[in-house]
Amino acid sequence: MNFISDIKFLFKFLSIYLLIQLSTGAMLPGNWPTLDEPPPILAEYTKLVDLSKVANAAIRTISDVNIGKCPNPDEYCHWGCTQCVRNQTDIITCPNVGDWGITLDDGPSPQTTAILDFLEAQNIKVTFFVVGSRVVEYPEILQRAYKLGHQIGVHTWSHPSLTTQTNEQVISELQWTAEVIKAAIGVVPSYMRPPYGDFDDRIRGICEQLGYKIVTWDSDTNDWRSNTDKTFKLSWIEGNFTEWVKQPGKPGHISLEHDLYKGAAAQVPSVINIVTKAGYKVKPVGTCLGNDNFYQSNATTPVPPNSTASTTSLLAYTNTPTSSTPASSTTPNTPKNPTPSSHSKSTSFAIKSNNFDNFLWSIIIGAILFTPTFL
Ligand SMILES: *[C@@H]1O[C@H](CO)[C@@H](O)[C@H](O)[C@H]1NC(C)=O
Ligand SMILES: *[C@@H]1O[C@H](CO)[C@@H](O)[C@H](O)[C@H]1NC(C)=O
Ligand SMILES: *[C@@H]1O[C@H](CO)[C@@H](O)[C@H](O)[C@H]1NC(C)=O
Ligand SMILES: *[C@@H]1O[C@H](CO)[C@@H](O)[C@H](O)[C@H]1NC(C)=O
Ligand SMILES: [Zn+2]
Repeated sequence: MNFISDIKFLFKFLSIYLLIQLSTGAMLPGNWPTLDEPPPILAEYTKLVDLSKVANAAIRTISDVNIGKCPNPDEYCHWGCTQCVRNQTDIITCPNVGDWGITLDDGPSPQTTAILDFLEAQNIKVTFFVVGSRVVEYPEILQRAYKLGHQIGVHTWSHPSLTTQTNEQVISELQWTAEVIKAAIGVVPSYMRPPYGDFDDRIRGICEQLGYKIVTWDSDTNDWRSNTDKTFKLSWIEGNFTEWVKQPGKPGHISLEHDLYKGAAAQVPSVINIVTKAGYKVKPVGTCLGNDNFYQSNATTPVPPNSTASTTSLLAYTNTPTSSTPASSTTPNTPKNPTPSSHSKSTSFAIKSNNFDNFLWSIIIGAILFTPTFL
């Protein structure tokens, strides 16, 4: 009898586990590149950019980034290193006093859901700069954000410091992210944010040709630190906003936060309350710039090679680029965000949402749910 009830218990446990897994959503269908690794370079992506028109800035080494070594002189206007701004193109602030662009990076993630609930209840729209790898994992969260009218922007596939990547790698990071966003919500963004704010004229040139305006920030919460740094106090995030809203005579702000880590993400409602109570209007960055179309009308992204089927397309993606995965920066000059890899290499039991898989899972769950009644 004990054996039978143990089995029953196990079945119940398993079926609840499976149901929870299913309800957290399905991965985006298709054979996508490995998550959180530099995606494969495709000739059809590379040829979208006339590289002869891209600045010939040296590629930084990862160790230079880590020790904060910057190009000197700053010939190619490296924002992360020197805060150099190309006034014609770089977007650092909202132009109008009283506007506030709330930007949330590195999602979509399970933390995004509560933020979307809050924003929906308040009827507030913000900007999400999303990581391609997270879009593969959480397409339904991205779809909800998009349908609610939030601005979706590109934030690369694997979150490298872009100035450490070759032109071809930079293009690949951007195009694969555009591709996966298009597969999830049907549009390709026209705004992007470089991880760590790490960009120079070379990255500017590539982004411009691919149809992206680069958005950074004037107000950084450093909230990413809360994930690993025990000395970081979450109350600093509110503290920072409380100070920023009092600064007079500034143009509108663009602030940087993240919707990847629990503690930091949970601060988003309270800081938005601080901003709105101080009389600012929270807007997506595109809107504060006077542009309500956040997407490219004529996306240049080719369809991924036969993405939903067969081993042939899988082979196309095993052709990995030569770079090592860039380490995150430790330079105080380089605005730094979390690398999402620790999060994404979760042991979660990924359930792909193609029809055959769903069919199989329903049989398995059905069997598990009904078997115990016969024991
Ligand atoms: C951008 O404008 C600021 C302020 O007007 C100026 O100090 C800066 O030198 C300009 N940047 C470039 C690269 O021209
Ligand atoms: C703002 O954040 C920084 C860390 O990024 C922190 O050192 C500082 O104390 C915060 N300011 C307030 C008023 O909380
Ligand atoms: C998209 O691009 C094609 C080819 O370049 C062009 O013929 C078409 O008019 C464009 N459509 C839009 C909506 O811009
Ligand atoms: C995709 O499939 C079509 C028809 O099966 C084939 O002609 C084409 O070469 C394939 N493309 C790639 C990139 O594998
Ligand atoms: Zn980031």
